[in-house]
Amino acid sequence: MKPSQKPARPFFSSGPCSKRPGWSLSALDEALVGRSHRSKVAKSRIQEVVDRSKRLLGLPEDYLCGIVPASDTGAMEMVMWSMLGQRGVEMLAWESFGSGWVTDVVKQLKLPETNRHEASYGEIPDLKRVDFDNDVVFTWNGTTSGAKVPDGDWIPADRKGLTICDATSAVFAMELPWDKIDVATYSWQKVMGGEAAHGMLVLSPRAVERLESYTPAWPIPKIFRLTKGGKLISGIFEGATINTVSMLCVEDALDGLKWAEELGGLPALIARSDANLVVIEDWVEKSDWAGFLAADRSIRSNTSICLKIVDTWFTSQSEADQAAGAKKMVAMLEKEGIGFDFGAYRDAPTGFRIWGGATVDAEDIAALLPWLDWAYAKLKKEES
Ligand SMILES: Cc1ncc(COP(=O)(O)O)c(C=O)c1O
Repeated sequence: MKPSQKPARPFFSSGPCSKRPGWSLSALDEALVGRSHRSKVAKSRIQEVVDRSKRLLGLPEDYLCGIVPASDTGAMEMVMWSMLGQRGVEMLAWESFGSGWVTDVVKQLKLPETNRHEASYGEIPDLKRVDFDNDVVFTWNGTTSGAKVPDGDWIPADRKGLTICDATSAVFAMELPWDKIDVATYSWQKVMGGEAAHGMLVLSPRAVERLESYTPAWPIPKIFRLTKGGKLISGIFEGATINTVSMLCVEDALDGLKWAEELGGLPALIARSDANLVVIEDWVEKSDWAGFLAADRSIRSNTSICLKIVDTWFTSQSEADQAAGAKKMVAMLEKEGIGFDFGAYRDAPTGFRIWGGATVDAEDIAALLPWLDWAYAKLKKEES
């Protein structure tokens, strides 16, 4: 039988993620559209995003935060191209985004002294083996596997290298120990449900020191350039972005930040994501067919919550049949208007990825899960 309740907001995509509860286009009524992003009023609106973000995240006073081009990817690329190469690099990867950064460092930048620390989907590498005399590039939360680092305890305070962290699906949903992170990047369309296109770059004083004391051997395109004449381009962190930003996106980012403040700030955002994970954990506990890709709870994501199918009727099928089966289930629920975009990432193992970031209501996830049971039962009945 079909469950009777439907999610009020059936949006479970891992990016762009669901808008905040109550969002409508009218939230953008005051956007400075048609104005130059270099005008005084626009610059102060851009700066407001930076200031509110710093406050909400609890960034240390001496950390810088700026808006950069091309989303999280743009922020990560500009950092890797601008900072790496001075010392060896430790590359950590356990899913496709982290692997993408490994490819860049090994195949594009071709850095000779690179140590790779890799693990398969649902696991993370042995963090004790990381050499902090080198720079360390890692993803806090592996969005496509639902596995994250447990905390920052593995990062020593007296490290010589820089820690460069792709934090895009962790920030605003997990506690980040800023003193252990020299560089962080993220985008607006994840936990805060903002619009895509712009990246955020957070720099510690040690990261700035690197930028001002080291010039890479390769050319740096304008879009990646953080220094001029050996000095940080401070304007990037003061509302004077490298190139044109969308004032519509800026307005939307501000809307999200104000919503988060009213909600109770970072602890409230984290609590919402944690609650979303708990709803799924309670369901998995009772399920005879679904399990977590990340079996170990200490590394299990509360944002990109990845599930696999463990029932032997399903797992005894070929990989192609399993993938097709899971896709059919997603299509069934899309057709019913119950849930959108919650299929596993294209390079990840077969299963589902339900976004649990702060903009998603726990009641909506609770309403989705009986429908997943329904879809699995229907698939099994039709195909066995
Ligand atoms: C961990 C991680 N890194 C990078 C990206 C790419 O982000 P963007 O599309 O904002 O460039 C994503 C997108 O989902 C991600 O989850």
